[in-house]
Amino acid sequence: MKLSGLCLLIPNALLLLACKPSEPELAKTPLWELQEAQGLELPNHTLGRDASAKQREAGKTLFFSGRDLENAQSVYFNCIDCHRVSREDPLLSDPDPEQRLAAALPKQARGSLLPGSSMHGVVNREHFYNGVYQKKYGGLVQRASKDLVEAVQVCAEFCSQGRRYDEAELEAMMAYLWSLQLTLGDLLSPEELASLSKLDAPLESKVLRPESLNARYLKASPASEYVPPETPLVGNPQRGKAVFEQSCVSCHQADRNSPMYELDIQRLHQGFENGKILDVVRKGIDPDPGRKDDYMPYYTPERLSEQQYADMQAYIAKEANK
Ligand code: HEC
Ligand code: HEC
Repeated sequence: MKLSGLCLLIPNALLLLACKPSEPELAKTPLWELQEAQGLELPNHTLGRDASAKQREAGKTLFFSGRDLENAQSVYFNCIDCHRVSREDPLLSDPDPEQRLAAALPKQARGSLLPGSSMHGVVNREHFYNGVYQKKYGGLVQRASKDLVEAVQVCAEFCSQGRRYDEAELEAMMAYLWSLQLTLGDLLSPEELASLSKLDAPLESKVLRPESLNARYLKASPASEYVPPETPLVGNPQRGKAVFEQSCVSCHQADRNSPMYELDIQRLHQGFENGKILDVVRKGIDPDPGRKDDYMPYYTPERLSEQQYADMQAYIAKEANK
């Protein structure tokens, strides 16, 4: 991936000195191009970074419909069931499920509250399966903790309950993930982009010091352990409707040709009241050991807040009593 327009002809390091890119061009500048120009080392997952558009497209197909392939990657899930691919957090340095939902609703985005993090910017991260995942899965995710390529394979095999990718598929998937990398437009405000585009000084100069860019996004997606609140929160059914639709219904739909089914509101209500749903949501349902199986992934507090849980409970209670 290279910077666009005239600047293409000039080698990277010189480019930022010699060009005065327009605002939209600046916004599209891949973060790693700039970081390389600043002399930073590329991450150790460069596989697929310079792959062809065709490979990226193949990776996208694997991500969205690996289940439908002749040689299905998983018979249970597509990657998109658990991970979005668009940007989900208004503030990349402070991921927050409340803000995430608020940002998704006006855009009528679907599935904004999924158990896995967005793949947007995943190639800009350095640590994977953090916090509670390291604690819970230990050895299984150890090798993947600093290796994105292995993180992909772990999810292909275990999260999706499928098979590992072969070499060509893995490169295609990485090529697709590289196409979702952070750009300067993700990290800088429109005002900052405007003033930078007018600046005669090189891009990698003061304004864009690596430290100042680093502070604007996280290199690891946080995942903490669920701790029940001391006093139960009061839910808001109206907000709960959106929570339910954006999380559970994204998987639990009647017409889906998959292990996921429509949830029965009365049973769900009972489950909320007797605490069973709390277990399902916060601990998940493990696949049967020793064989591939469908299962329900759990939500860390970073993926579904306690307030959102209470809101959902209030909504289901209201629906059940209609
Ligand atoms: C059933 C749910 C589920 C499915 C299906 C799934 N994942 Fe995941 N994945 C997770 C969860 C949960 C995590 C850990 C939390 C997170 O995303 O940071 C994770 C983590 C990851 C990570 C590391 C992200 C990080 O920052 O730690 C990558 C990369 C990844 N998955 C790729 C994939 C790919 C590629 C597929 C398709 C083969 C896939 N996943 C399918 C649930 C899933
Ligand atoms: C990534 C997809 C996915 C998401 C998102 C999801 N579920 Fe599930 N859920 C499943 C699958 C798959 C099963 C079936 C597990 C099995 O059969 O072992 C399941 C099972 C369940 C069950 C049945 C448990 C039982 O013992 O029969 C309940 C209840 C449930 N989910 C509630 C929820 C709620 C509430 C949400 C939203 C907070 C949610 N699910 C979000 C995939 C999902």
